[in-house]
Amino acid sequence: LNYNVNKERRYILQVLFNGLRRLEYRGYDSAGIAIDSNSSDPIPSSSSSNSSTVSQPPLVFRREGNIESLVKSVYQDVAETDLNLDESFSVHAGIAHTRWATHGEPAPRNSHPQSSGDGNDFLVVHNGVITNYEVLKETLVRHGFTFESETDTEVIPKLAKFVFDKANEEGDQTVTFSQVVLEVMRHLEGAYALIFKSRHYPNELIACKRGSPLLLGVKDLTENINNASAFHDEKFLSKNDHPKELFLSSDANAVVEHTKKVLVIEDGEVVHLKDGGVTILKFDSDKGKHGGSFSRPASVQRALSVLEMEVEQINKGKYEHYMQKEIHEQPESLTTTMRGRLIRGGSHKAKTVLLGGLKDHLKTIRRSRRIVFIGCGTSYNAALAARPILEELSGVPVTMEVASDLLDRQGPIYREDTAVFVSQSGETADTLLALEYALENGALCVGITNTVGSAIARHTHCGVHINAGAEIGVASTKAYTSQIVVMAMLALAIGGDTISNEAKREATIDGLIDLPNKVREVLQLDQEMKDLAKLLIAEQSLLVFGRGYNYATALEGALKVKEVALMHSEGILAGEMKHGPLALVDENLPIVVIATRDACFSKQQSVIQQLHARKGRLIVMCSKGDAAAVCPGESCRAIEVPQVEDCLQPVVNIIPLQLLAYHLTVLRGFNVDQPRNLAKSVTTQ
Ligand code: G6P
Repeated sequence: LNYNVNKERRYILQVLFNGLRRLEYRGYDSAGIAIDSNSSDPIPSSSSSNSSTVSQPPLVFRREGNIESLVKSVYQDVAETDLNLDESFSVHAGIAHTRWATHGEPAPRNSHPQSSGDGNDFLVVHNGVITNYEVLKETLVRHGFTFESETDTEVIPKLAKFVFDKANEEGDQTVTFSQVVLEVMRHLEGAYALIFKSRHYPNELIACKRGSPLLLGVKDLTENINNASAFHDEKFLSKNDHPKELFLSSDANAVVEHTKKVLVIEDGEVVHLKDGGVTILKFDSDKGKHGGSFSRPASVQRALSVLEMEVEQINKGKYEHYMQKEIHEQPESLTTTMRGRLIRGGSHKAKTVLLGGLKDHLKTIRRSRRIVFIGCGTSYNAALAARPILEELSGVPVTMEVASDLLDRQGPIYREDTAVFVSQSGETADTLLALEYALENGALCVGITNTVGSAIARHTHCGVHINAGAEIGVASTKAYTSQIVVMAMLALAIGGDTISNEAKREATIDGLIDLPNKVREVLQLDQEMKDLAKLLIAEQSLLVFGRGYNYATALEGALKVKEVALMHSEGILAGEMKHGPLALVDENLPIVVIATRDACFSKQQSVIQQLHARKGRLIVMCSKGDAAAVCPGESCRAIEVPQVEDCLQPVVNIIPLQLLAYHLTVLRGFNVDQPRNLAKSVTTQ
């Protein structure tokens, strides 16, 4: 939203489209925008007794498919009408949305902005799910509203119109935009981040949130804001005397190219952008329930913070795809993850690990009854990869929970537990709800996330940022390896300097220091993995066998192949082979067996023999120089990887499988960065 800045319509469209492009990884089945139809002054309202003004109905464009299909069709529509791209606006409030369908198939009518009906009196974009939408819909239908979509979102603009019309009928001609939104919020259940635009409140926007992420970016065009004291001034936001542009977004990626000055919006806050000033109100649901027709929340003062990210991080650079870039930048991302955290001691001093965010809680963690790892998808797999080293060094029992399963079972979490929440985005709804649950149960909650300011980072008692840099590819790659490294460092920090741990500690720290080099080395398998992908291109299925430290590698390798290459793939705990999976094995089925050198090596050799005896088509991942020793026959293919300390081997071993999944996807002609039906950050349950 820009104030006191003369900007042409083409600029406004460009800002909205670029923002959507940056957010596309969060959802990409349909998209839409709403912009003002003309820049003339608002006209007096004739539709109600309200003495306020209305503007011309905003223009809404919605399309099925990705952002580029929306962009194309908008420019086509613009060309076919007399809409002028050169028309300039001194104030303009636009909204845009890219969707990951929850309720209703991808189709223009289900895309956002959702509307209150003819005239677009109220328009809403929504991230989240409204759980009581059916009840609200019934009520609104009884009041004469008709619905065109199958979405849960459509009730929101319609409810806003209902509230607005009712206030006017009752003679409240001064009802403000924020009062309307606060009243709407009072009726909504579920999770949401919302932005409202209304023709009754031209040049204003309201945003609010509960559960889903939202941030405000501020670009002060007078540059005053670059003066550090200005943006740390809590009153700065409410000032309206500078030309400025304001951005509301689900994440920082859409904002960082415009400004690094942001405010992370908290649950229950309502952000009102009007006349170049920002007012933040705190929604208090109890007050709303018992108070008059509108709750009267207090306004809160907040100071801006500075994003620590660069635009280059969210560009593809020399790579064709984000996933490819993120796989290849792992030597650097791992280096950043470890920066300042591994302290090389002098000749007589042991090397140590320093995790600043945990230092005041290490004692409590050491004394806890259990460490419970909680996460979803790749983050869960990373915790599984780190479990053995945590058990080994800390001596504390470690259990694993998939966040949704913990919630389904309402599984036991105790005051004496340390619950570790692992999440790249820090916003995954299931993990966040599991965090709420663990907080209610009194556990010490530790966050391991890649996103500073994310909900999980803010709501845990303490934690570690993995500092892997922005990850855009939907399939997680560099975050996975950085998560493992952080958890290995966590194990070292918890384990402390005991004599019994000394040798393992030293070896692990040395291994960590050298890890980026080993990762650089294993990345040289790129072409080999491309060749292997060519052989596997038409397969229906791929099994991946692992155990011990590399059980997680089997699960994660299979997950990569499944999610991007759209090929059925299963990670199998090799110790369970005889209890079912062996029945699948025949001369047609390709099988990857992870058999790098560690305590499970001889058991894996025996697994290879048994699979070979059933004519399985073997691809064995082994330590450098072991190919001849592990491959039972000519048809067996070996992937030789550098050997590292056993607990760090999963970091090296996953990389050929990431490359394999990447090349398989490209060769099979699928979208690598935006796999079918998936989204990067699953902020709905
Ligand atoms: C989604 C993503 C996965 C990710 C999982 C957990 O399913 O597609 O790549 O592993 O969510 O996300 P988180 O941000 O919590 O690590």
